[in-house]
Amino acid sequence: MMKEYKWWQSAVFYQIYPRSFADGNGDGIGDFVGMTQKLDYLQSLGVDAVWISPHYPSPQCDCGYDVSDYCDVAPEYGTLDDFRTFLEEAHQRGIKVVLDLVLNHTSDQHAWFLESRSSLDNPKRDWYIWRKGQDGQPPNNWYSTFGGSAWELDPQTNEYYYHMFFKGQPDLNWRNPEVKQAMVNGMRFWLDLGVDGFRLDAVGTIFEAEDLPNSQCDYTLDDLYIRQTKAIEDPGEKFDGGKLWLELFKYQVEQPGIHELMCELRQVVDEYPDRVLIGETEGVDYYGNGDNELQLVFNFPLMATHQLTADWVRSNQKERLSSLPRGAWPCNTLGNHDKTRVFTHFGDGRHNHSIARANLAVLLTLPGTPFLYNGEEIGMTDFMLESPGQFRDSYSPFIYQKDQELMGSSPEIALKRAANAGRDRCRTPMQWENAANGGFSPAEVQTWLPVNPNYQEGINVAEQELDSDSLLNYYRHLLSTRRMSPALVFGGYRTLFSKDPDCLIFLRYYQEQTCLVVINLSSQRRTLDLVAACGHSEGKVIFGSHTRPDRLALDDLFVSPYEVLIFNL
Ligand code: NOJ
Repeated sequence: MMKEYKWWQSAVFYQIYPRSFADGNGDGIGDFVGMTQKLDYLQSLGVDAVWISPHYPSPQCDCGYDVSDYCDVAPEYGTLDDFRTFLEEAHQRGIKVVLDLVLNHTSDQHAWFLESRSSLDNPKRDWYIWRKGQDGQPPNNWYSTFGGSAWELDPQTNEYYYHMFFKGQPDLNWRNPEVKQAMVNGMRFWLDLGVDGFRLDAVGTIFEAEDLPNSQCDYTLDDLYIRQTKAIEDPGEKFDGGKLWLELFKYQVEQPGIHELMCELRQVVDEYPDRVLIGETEGVDYYGNGDNELQLVFNFPLMATHQLTADWVRSNQKERLSSLPRGAWPCNTLGNHDKTRVFTHFGDGRHNHSIARANLAVLLTLPGTPFLYNGEEIGMTDFMLESPGQFRDSYSPFIYQKDQELMGSSPEIALKRAANAGRDRCRTPMQWENAANGGFSPAEVQTWLPVNPNYQEGINVAEQELDSDSLLNYYRHLLSTRRMSPALVFGGYRTLFSKDPDCLIFLRYYQEQTCLVVINLSSQRRTLDLVAACGHSEGKVIFGSHTRPDRLALDDLFVSPYEVLIFNL
């Protein structure tokens, strides 16, 4: 019997950052009317599902990751009816809709927190993590990952509340069954409306060590900042920031209880047909036994490099695929709203366009569900803000101060570092046209973040639609090749030439179809003899980044720098 696959196994996801995607009412901020207008665009791009970053009412202290009502739409994004229309229109086009669910914390303006903070004996007091201080000091030495103590003293009751992220994002106490129930009600609200699943935010941070032990680390978060800053600016500096961060936050992440909770949430979505849970984590343990926790967990290690070399990708795949529990489905991405834009991240300054094309081929031909981030299809780049007043990510003003204080830097240097450390740079409005404001908002409007002026240099949708050679049309073409090639979607994966320094070469095979994928990830020209390895003397080219005949001999295959060739054998 033929194995049945789920929609999220064959889908290509596209992340929409709602504030920056499409401004339907011309107020400088993206919204659901705008998103609905762009559904035809998404359909023509060839994506199957969207993940929308938080669209809930929020004071925006963390750009929507501080939710003040889980069952509504932020007024600047529209109304619940606008959302319903969007959902219906997306579904009509065969596009699934996945929402972002922020579980670890709410906004400090959420009604639950306002109640909780109001008195020591409020029934919702225990919905958050409140503790007494000691001798005017916070309950322990934990940090917020966004800087400073993780504890904020609330003068109303003279106790501290815990926040892993900004102080406007108090952590919920998930050990309280009422909290779980309230959040599950929120999930059901959207599932009942017909959404197709959730991307679960920051799952690793949901539980903290119950007895709140002090961290024993002999370094501080400031020490990490200093070393990290040096490492960014001096590539010779050896520094594993991730490892040190994990040690420092040891009692604040990955604590007991989390996998039981994931199972419970999975049971909730499984009451509805065909829904999906995706975790913002790289931990393969979040797949549970392969079918009882999250269906998709990001392979973040793939993008943790400045260059996707053939060796890097092969060893990532070897490690990753062998560590997945049986039945688990891989999931790859190269960028999102927290990271440097793909084009900027992997560009070497000389071959950026070719690298972007080769990297997309990696993402769309490796086993697993790919996630794209809005704007990458036109090669949008990071945009560094030029004055502190422009910052919208609250992390940047913090770094702007911190850098001057810790590093003794000038305001100019601190500004550069703050712009680089913050995430506004990858969240600027989508560039739709070569027109004022990149066609995102009317000319006279000030957009919530400035539009990157490089919309005037061809980095916009309208001009790329007309250019058959554009990155946008390359994305469309490759997405359509993938869609028509079951081997690329469902197929087994076998590496060929596993030591080749330049080219990533592998087979994907499924039923009658075998695809040979050749991606030159280097600036070297190569000639390859693939006949013995793949058992065929020639192949039919089903996708090529360069103009090539329909069939090519495989015994003396010339491959240009960064060329992509996909064959049917
Ligand atoms: C991860 C989100 O992707 C990020 O944008 C946010 O700041 C934190 N979680 C806190 O919610």
